[in-house]
Parts: sequence; C-alpha cells; structure tokens
Amino acid sequence: MSRTAHIVGWGKYVPSRVLTNDDLARMVDTSDEWIRTRTGIVERHIVNEGETTASMAVRAAREALQVANMKPADVELIIVATVTPDHVFPSTACLVQDALGATRAAAFDLSAGCAGFIYGLSVAADLIAGGAYKNALVIGSETLSCITDWSDRATCVLFGDGAGAVVLQANDADGGVLASILGADGSGGGLLYLPAGGSRLPTSHETVDQRLHYLQMKGREVFRFAVEIMPEATRDVLKKAGLTLADMSILIPHQANQRIIESAARALGVPQDVVYSNVARYGNTSAASIPIALCEAVEEGRIKRGDLVVCVGFGAGLTWGASAIRWSVPLPPAPLSRWKKAWYQLHYRYVAIRSLVRRFIRWFFARGVEE
Ligand code: ACO
Repeated sequence: MSRTAHIVGWGKYVPSRVLTNDDLARMVDTSDEWIRTRTGIVERHIVNEGETTASMAVRAAREALQVANMKPADVELIIVATVTPDHVFPSTACLVQDALGATRAAAFDLSAGCAGFIYGLSVAADLIAGGAYKNALVIGSETLSCITDWSDRATCVLFGDGAGAVVLQANDADGGVLASILGADGSGGGLLYLPAGGSRLPTSHETVDQRLHYLQMKGREVFRFAVEIMPEATRDVLKKAGLTLADMSILIPHQANQRIIESAARALGVPQDVVYSNVARYGNTSAASIPIALCEAVEEGRIKRGDLVVCVGFGAGLTWGASAIRWSVPLPPAPLSRWKKAWYQLHYRYVAIRSLVRRFIRWFFARGVEE
C-alpha cells in the first residue's frame, strides 16, 4: 500500500454582501438577461469593508480544520493560491499561518490564476506522498473585486470574491489524491493579465490614470482556450490515474461561465448532472472557485465515500490542471463536541493575543536599537 494525501477537511467562506445582475445594470450598460444568457451568472459576493484575501482564507481554513478535527499546530504546510494577495509580500499564507496559530507550518503563496487551487493541491499532495509532510492546508482565496474595473462591462459582470480550503492528510489507505496533471502556456499570458504594479510597469501616476491596475481580458480567446483544455485535462488526469470517464462520479470544474461548463460536459460525453456548477451564485472567484464548489458539492450530498471526484481548472498564465481524487472519508463528518468548539474559539483568541504580544516585543526591541 502506498502513502497518498487524503482530503479530510473542507471549508469555504463567501462575504455576506451580494451584488446582483440588476445592481450591475445600474452601474454599467448591461442587463440581467445578457449576463445570464452569456455567462449563467445571477449574482456574486463582494467583500465587506475590512475583509481581505487573508481574512477570507482564515475563515475557510478554520472551517476546514474543524471538519478535520485537527489542531492548527498539526498543520505543517500552508499554500494559498491567489492572484489578489493582501500584499506582494509578505505572502498571504504567512498572514493565514499567524491568524491560525499554525506554529509548525511552512507557508507560501502560489500564483497560477484560476488553476491555482489545483496547482496547490497537486504540490501539497506530492509532498505528502513523498513523505515530506503529514498534514497540509491548501486554500484558494480571492478578492477579485479589488482588481476589477467597475466601469468595464466586459469584465465586471464576471467576477466575485470568496475562499475555499481543504486539509490534506497522509494515509496508507486506498484513495485520496490519485493523480494530478498541470500545464502552462505562457504565450497566452497577454490574454488575461494585470498590466501594472509589477517590475515591468511599476505603479505611477500614469499607470493609475490609465487604469492599468485592473484586470484585462480577451474574453473570446480565453473562452476558446477553456472549452478545449477542460475536456483534455480531464481525460489526461483520468488516464494518468488508470481510470476512465465511466469511473468519474462527479466533475468539479473551475466556475467561470456556465457555457464553458456545459461545453466541457458535451465534449466529454457525460450528462450535465455529473458536472457540478454553482457559477450562478458566485460568478468566477478564480483560485477559490474549485474549493468553494467542492465544499458545496459535499454539503449538498453530491459526493459519497468511494466516489471518484475530478477537479479541473484553467486560468491566467495560461495555466491548467486537473486532479483525480477518490473520496475516502465518511460523510457527513462527525459533528464537533461543544467542548471542541469552545477549544477552537479559545485557541483563536489566544493566537490573536500571542501575535499582538510578538509584534509588541519586536516593536519594543526595535525602539531600543534605534535609540
Ligand atoms: N453586457 C452587455 N453587452 C456586453 C457585455 C455586458 N456585460 N459585455 C460585452 N458585451 C457586448 C460586447 O461589447 C459585444 O458587443 P458588439 O458585438 O457590439 O461588439 C457583444 O456583447 C459580444 O461580446 P463578446 O465578448 O463576443 O461576448 P461573448 O459571448 O464572448 O461573452 C464573455 C463574453 C462572457 C466574457 C465570454 O467570452 C467568456 O466567458 N470568456 C471567458 C472568460 C473566462 O473564463 N475568464 C476566465 C478567467 S480565469 C482567471 O484566471 C481569472
């Protein structure tokens, strides 16, 4: 029997603020009818004041750890997939590590656009299978509303904010992450990008005046790429796992556009109900879309123990990836006792105080050095 990474916890967080198609129709020249028929999106969630990529990631991660019944101190690796980090540095993963009190964890961010969660899952699963770590948290979290040009109808109708997380754990039992495939084609980088703010075009008055800090996309080209790569990546990962489409219980695709999702189902020749979709409620949340969809599929009873779950994504880069996962934990998860819930609450309070004290000590000694 070989060691594989199993999903033992899952969680999601979406902000409470909802932006409907009708709201957007009051902001730009669009309509509910256009957005629904071209994308399948009905509404999306947008961060409230004070919410960030890290704060949403922390909420999703806490839920995932509770489902796994795991202490944050047992997490050895945290990967946050995002294209909208709180800062260029420090990484969002380090902010999450601090807020969870995951004191034994290595932490880094990963930028692979909407395929970021699959990239993170694949890297973490391979590190676990290779024996480097036993437990890892993989999170996709995005605040796309902060890089969306709210005056550009071609893009602002598509995106939303949110976060999803899974806990991976080493196990010798059958199942878990059976295989993953990852791919990239940088020649398509210009199809979907954020022009300014990096070393090529540092932030200046001009970049702000020219609105170059907002996401730009050639929608039709991305669409064409997506409808080709989704079925191809799905077939490739099944082949790598030694399985076929007939073995697949559910496909969790990146939630970008209902037409892309339906086209993938048609190209694969699988019934639409095998392909999970919640794009209507959240829009495209980039790296967060697959873990949010995975969580909802579990919550809705669409996944059972023993099912073969295939996750597939594509995104800026261009990038793509797919993972074949044999679901191995019983569902629904055992509810937490009142004491365990209280333990988590106390732990996070203690962690917040601990972080403040460490900041204070650093500030105090830095003052001493300056004097
Ligand atoms: N409301 C009304 N009309 C609109 C809107 C809107 N919101 N947006 C565009 N239009 C108009 C266009 O101006 C155009 O008008 P014209 O024909 O007079 O020029 C017409 O609608 C058709 O525009 P298209 O761009 O051809 O519309 P299309 O059917 O291709 O749909 C869409 C556009 C929804 C963006 C589609 O191309 C798409 O989904 N592309 C993929 C996007 C995607 O998946 N992105 C993934 C991002 S991954 C990541 O890493 C973040």
